[in-house]
Amino acid sequence: MPQSRTLLFASLLALTFSSPAPASEAPRLVEHNGRHALLVDGAPFLILGAQINNSSSWPSVLPQVWPALEAMHANTIEAPVYWEQLEPQPGQFDYSTVDALVHGARDHHLHLVLLWFGTWKNGNMHYVPVWVKTDTRKFPRMINAAGEPIDVLSANSDSNRDADKSAFTALMRHLKEIDSTDHTVLMIQVENESGAIGTPRDFSPASNKEFAGDVPAALLKAMHKPRGSWTEAFAGKADETFQAYHQARYVNEVAAAGKREFDIPMYSNVWLSYPPAELPERQIPNPGIGYPSGGPVQDMISLWKAFAPSIDIIGPDIYSDDSAFYREILNTYNRPDNALWIPETGSGDSFAKFFFYALGQGAIGFSPFGIDRTNWTYTGEDGPKLHTENYALLAPMDREIARLNFDGKLKTAVEEPGSTSQELDFGPWQASVRFGFPQPDGRRPPGTSDHHGRALVAQISPDEFLVTGVDASIAFHVPGRLPGMRMQILRAEEGHYENGVWHMTRLWNGDQTDRGLNFRHIGTVVRIRVGTF
Ligand code: DGJ
Repeated sequence: MPQSRTLLFASLLALTFSSPAPASEAPRLVEHNGRHALLVDGAPFLILGAQINNSSSWPSVLPQVWPALEAMHANTIEAPVYWEQLEPQPGQFDYSTVDALVHGARDHHLHLVLLWFGTWKNGNMHYVPVWVKTDTRKFPRMINAAGEPIDVLSANSDSNRDADKSAFTALMRHLKEIDSTDHTVLMIQVENESGAIGTPRDFSPASNKEFAGDVPAALLKAMHKPRGSWTEAFAGKADETFQAYHQARYVNEVAAAGKREFDIPMYSNVWLSYPPAELPERQIPNPGIGYPSGGPVQDMISLWKAFAPSIDIIGPDIYSDDSAFYREILNTYNRPDNALWIPETGSGDSFAKFFFYALGQGAIGFSPFGIDRTNWTYTGEDGPKLHTENYALLAPMDREIARLNFDGKLKTAVEEPGSTSQELDFGPWQASVRFGFPQPDGRRPPGTSDHHGRALVAQISPDEFLVTGVDASIAFHVPGRLPGMRMQILRAEEGHYENGVWHMTRLWNGDQTDRGLNFRHIGTVVRIRVGTF
């Protein structure tokens, strides 16, 4: 390619950030043509996240936590902040855990996503302080259809919301004091898998009265429904919609109050609605039993977007490794108004390839759950294996990957049973990906025994690509022609990025390139320049 075209392409990429943010700017989300980026110190950042276990944020436990993050090559730790610990007495705050997390993350060259375990944790209220748990008059519980209080604070109570809001505000004020320059903290998760397990909605007398009346006009408008009662407008989803409406506004008020103190991205994570495996006719959403009612599950995203504008992202926690379900969830939560961010997923090997699916959909980050070696999920030197492979591969070039993805230049291929060859389309160039080795002539690629093959190709200039993969060969060709026909490899450099600069270690040629670029070994990255003749 002529030098002038290379320069033009490079300047176009640079222009994506026409006015780069100053290094002191707080993290923020940006959207361009339906694609999203988390800007950290003015440039896109890819969260290679890892969430620690629920009781691992304590200063006494953290020394055992940090080595696991390092071993995994994560660049970000997700860690809870507990309301019961932060505010042991009303209005008295103890920041020791938050401080230990922020300073520990800095000492270990990590960013931090803090998880506010406030009113809700997994559809219950287990992290609220004792003074909230024991004062049920002031801090009312949800009431189930039988008229009994349950183990969930009511989302329909101003005093519950205001108590949470005041604690969350104190947390954000403190973060502003300690982190407005360093930006160790990237984002805040407001509540954890919010919603009610035990009832589809609040059946208190006040809520029943409200439910018997008309649906608020703003909700009808947002959901494109005609005037009417809750049951007329929402039929079988009336209870859940009622709860989601109240809960989204509750969480929004908490988030908005926190943002007034320190304006960094905030998100809600989701306990999804999983279809039961057995019979198709049982695949009916079961709010309050199958998943917490009121949360931003698949059907409630639009409602939450309308009534919780201070929540920037709704991020699904994905604990099924059923590939069709996983991909459906990525599609559902990847929207022009919602950056794709997976705050929790399984740490097992069967979940690792989904990181490549997520990247292919422009995800800003990904985070397996429960990675610390505190004798809960892992002990000794044990830890996630394939997630670690992924992070080790991408960590040295995480900024480059984030930028190329935001610019729409990155594509991925992932092996599935029976699908061992795939095409990636870059217009004038295509990449044929073939999974598994050996790949003898006259045979289809064999795939891998557990279907873990994965590949990533990013276009760095019109004829130049950054390529990597695991158990994959990748061959470039022009559309409608085989590799080598009217095209050739001009240069294939194996190497790595270091602080944004590419370092070549050797050229690939011969057996390493004649049947595609062969990624048999983990951790290899190639920059290839191709040309036509
Ligand atoms: C999802 C929750 O959000 C986490 O805090 C943790 O409880 C995991 N489930 C356990 O699998």
